Amino acid sequence: MEELRTNQQISWLDDVDDRGVVINPDHELYGKSLAGTALHFPSASGSTVGSDRIVNLAVHGFAPKRIVLEKSDPITMWGAILGKIDIEIRGTTQLAVDRGPLEKLGIDAEIVDYLVRAGELLGTNEFIPAEDVQIAGVSYKTITETGLELRRHFGSKYRFRSKNVTINPAGMDMEDWQVHGVPEEFAKKQQEVIEIYVKMGATPTITCTPYLIGSMPPPFVDAFLSESSVVAYANSVLGVRTNRESGLSTLLYAIAGYGPRYGLHLRENRNPRVEVDVSCELKGTVDFSLLGYRLGELVRGRIPYITGIGSRPTLEELKVLSAAGAASGSIDLFHIENITPEAMGHLIELDRIEERIEITRASLDEVKGRLNTGKVEEIDLVTFGCPHASLNEVKEIAALLRGRKIRTGVKLWVCTSRAVKEMSAKLGYVDTVEASGGHVVADTCMVVSPIESMGHRTTATNSGKAAKYLPRFCRQNVVFDSAEEIVRKIVA
Ligand code: F3S
Repeated sequence: MEELRTNQQISWLDDVDDRGVVINPDHELYGKSLAGTALHFPSASGSTVGSDRIVNLAVHGFAPKRIVLEKSDPITMWGAILGKIDIEIRGTTQLAVDRGPLEKLGIDAEIVDYLVRAGELLGTNEFIPAEDVQIAGVSYKTITETGLELRRHFGSKYRFRSKNVTINPAGMDMEDWQVHGVPEEFAKKQQEVIEIYVKMGATPTITCTPYLIGSMPPPFVDAFLSESSVVAYANSVLGVRTNRESGLSTLLYAIAGYGPRYGLHLRENRNPRVEVDVSCELKGTVDFSLLGYRLGELVRGRIPYITGIGSRPTLEELKVLSAAGAASGSIDLFHIENITPEAMGHLIELDRIEERIEITRASLDEVKGRLNTGKVEEIDLVTFGCPHASLNEVKEIAALLRGRKIRTGVKLWVCTSRAVKEMSAKLGYVDTVEASGGHVVADTCMVVSPIESMGHRTTATNSGKAAKYLPRFCRQNVVFDSAEEIVRKIVA
């Protein structure tokens, strides 16, 4: 068996294509096929639907035969378990897990098998109630037919035992998909995915900002969340305790009503390892997106303690910081001096810091240059709301568009949850956006909807996370800038 080794993380969503070839030119395995190899790498970065991508590779014969990870990583681990790939995790002590206590909880034997395997690999035999679960792996585009088959299987046999199960964005606006030109075949599959989740007991929140619509546990409560920006925001800003679960692990934990206690559930694992001093002034969400993006690249899976951020960031700035850091690296938790709850409450120990890094204006400008791969005159889609827009963001974009007309040939989407869209409609923001020629789009986003099959080639965005995934996963050229600048460029 060919051995492939890398010290770089792998983002299964956009570093690897659907035939198992590494397509990220910045990755040291660029151009290599992972099919049939023994693959050694530290852990997965980025999207938590990576586990579905691995299962899909396995089903089609393009997955590695054996995977060796340096640290526990639920994305790769669950992809390997469900894809029947041999896996070893070097950084954990593997345990024999007794299935008896799990069976006594009334959990079905098939699900117990999965929990036992997870406990063995993660080095824990402690399972705790999973009352709050957020499931990624909802868009048919990201899970594909293989993922739908898996959900049909679990949906035909089980109901969720967890009390509060919410779901991530889908591949389309569930009400207005025809208006946006989503292919009918795709729409049918997408509707089926949602029907399965709802039948199993999920609340159809269909958003990556459940914390904006009142669906999040209180601080210091253990949860099982899987959308990567939700994980980073919930851990860091809200003080919730969750690992970056995968779409598939949350599906199984919601069925069991229990999940393993490990990693960031344990207070001692929440201490920062790297101090990051921001030596420049940050202005608005674009700068916070750039900061998150650079942070993810630099800290390589470690927990950062960020200093130098003067005034308290807004909710929206913390939202995009969380999203970009989780996408470009794998930041599941960050602390900001005097700002985030565990830093403010002196609940973390700073004596484990092993490195100090400075982030300068020049490094943020360098990232911005790198994210811009498209030409302004070729923009055919403008997308705001990654993560899903808050009410305040919809209001601000409506204000930018008021009395202006978007030029012919350009579509504009403000992506948000249905709950925020409905409130925005009541307040008149939706009418304002539509009067300019744009749309407030609910339930979906620019990354998980099939924009590439809807004819779009150049997308403008103010989100670092979207700018990361659009080029390879959605085959888009990207114009990355602030909402003000983008609107200025696309109004007639
Ligand atoms: Fe949410 Fe889509 Fe961005 S799921 S975080 S809006 S890529």
